[in-house]
Amino acid sequence: MSPTRPELNPDSPAPQGQLSDAEFDSLRTLIYELTGISLNDSKRSLVEGRVARRLRANDLASYGEYCELVRSLPAEAEEVVELINCVTTNKTDFFREPHHFEFLRTRLFPELEARARKGGPRHVRLWSAACSSGEEPYTLAMTAFEHFAGKGWRIEILATDIDTDVLARAKAGVYPTERVDGLPSETVRRHFLRGKGRWAGHYKVRPELAQLVRFERLNFMDDEWGVEGRFDAIFCRNVVIYFDRRTQDALFRRLHTHLADEGYLMIGHSENLHFLAELFEPLPKTVHKKRAASRGLATPPPAMPARVLAAEARNASSAQLPRRSITIGEVFATQTPTVVRTLLGSCVAACLWDPIARVGGMNHILLPTAPGGEEHSSRFGVHAMELLINAVMQRGGERRRLRAKAFGAAHVLSQISLSGSASERNAAFVKQFLERESIPLIGARLGGNAPLEVLFQTHDGKAFVRPVPGNASADVAHSEHQYGEQIVRNTRTVAEPDITLF
Ligand SMILES: C[S@@+](CC[C@H](N)C(=O)[O-])C[C@H]1O[C@@H](n2cnc3c(N)ncnc32)[C@H](O)[C@@H]1O
Repeated sequence: MSPTRPELNPDSPAPQGQLSDAEFDSLRTLIYELTGISLNDSKRSLVEGRVARRLRANDLASYGEYCELVRSLPAEAEEVVELINCVTTNKTDFFREPHHFEFLRTRLFPELEARARKGGPRHVRLWSAACSSGEEPYTLAMTAFEHFAGKGWRIEILATDIDTDVLARAKAGVYPTERVDGLPSETVRRHFLRGKGRWAGHYKVRPELAQLVRFERLNFMDDEWGVEGRFDAIFCRNVVIYFDRRTQDALFRRLHTHLADEGYLMIGHSENLHFLAELFEPLPKTVHKKRAASRGLATPPPAMPARVLAAEARNASSAQLPRRSITIGEVFATQTPTVVRTLLGSCVAACLWDPIARVGGMNHILLPTAPGGEEHSSRFGVHAMELLINAVMQRGGERRRLRAKAFGAAHVLSQISLSGSASERNAAFVKQFLERESIPLIGARLGGNAPLEVLFQTHDGKAFVRPVPGNASADVAHSEHQYGEQIVRNTRTVAEPDITLF
């Protein structure tokens, strides 16, 4: 049996309209870019039903508005994570495809013990690489625990998944009775605690088993996995069926680099690895052994294709847009898709946009307040923010729909008398202002030591940020320094920079 998602609430109003062909295409392209999951036409009604819940949660009336919203958000934004959670398939079971656990007992564990007798480590590392609600990693833990208990071995199990809902359930380790019903009663007694009171009808994984498993969110498409060390076995089962061949190829090549020499890769019953015979030797029942000296070791694994395609598409689209650079004290907003660029040292830039009206803009703030006291200038905090909000609203944005990103506030001005903690104050100001005004800050890069170049796309809210390289970095710090010194000498003599509204 598989865990189920909550039922749709029949009392909630249905979203207006159906999911159109274009909207379905837009969503499935985004989902492919984000997760590698390829959704064919047969998944359309499933996507429509599940996304309907997200429309209601966001108070949106149409699928079109929802597409605009999620397309405008960064991959780490809460709503994008919710969308991903909506479209994953999480079917799993304790001891699913039991031959793999039998293989560990009868082959891998004895092999590790034989190596330990020759001086190898008394340490077993296993990875459940699409662990869903935890049944697979806990089954690994039970299998390893029963084999190694009392023998002085260290058991380490990493369990990862992209879906934060199932990960939360997995971490809790609480399962309704029917999920453990099929297990031998001795296994249940040894590894689970029976729930009482409000937990009646549930079983909880015993702490001594739970402590063997570390759960982390990991998206196979990410450039960095943050996974250290190599594993004696990786279970990557029943997930690549949702990926196209290019994505499968890239994923298995990356997993290959995380396997110990002579380690094993387990895949699902309807998956195969024939196309990578140079890296993996097929054994019976979808077990694959890492080949000892394969060509794959010589070259680094390729980037995930979905991400490559997405990056190419992004670059192509932003390359065609008009560009506009702003500097200290300038505010720029427009309804014409534009890339706004600025260079930031200790200054801070707020970017605002309305994902539905596709209007956006940016300011460039020197300090939260004028050093000499009250001054209504676009160089300083509240006034600069109000100018930006008004500018976006004048171009058709609605205040309640505004979303924000903020950048800058690096520690580059710490030497000058004016600034002291300018960067900290700038970072704190922009966060507090946005919170007070209830404008969600959905992306930020604030602090650090490096000046930043920021490119912000006004129509979709995408931002591209990179540290300013070498000499140019010193220039940014120097010009901010001079600007600040001038204000300290005489704030009145500094010319008010232009405010540009288009
Ligand atoms: C059908 S479950 C498989 C669970 C378990 N491995 C098993 O065989 O019983 C597939 C899991 O893959 C996860 N998944 C899908 N795309 C992913 C990605 N890009 N990165 C990491 N996990 C992903 C899903 O969230 C889901 O929980």
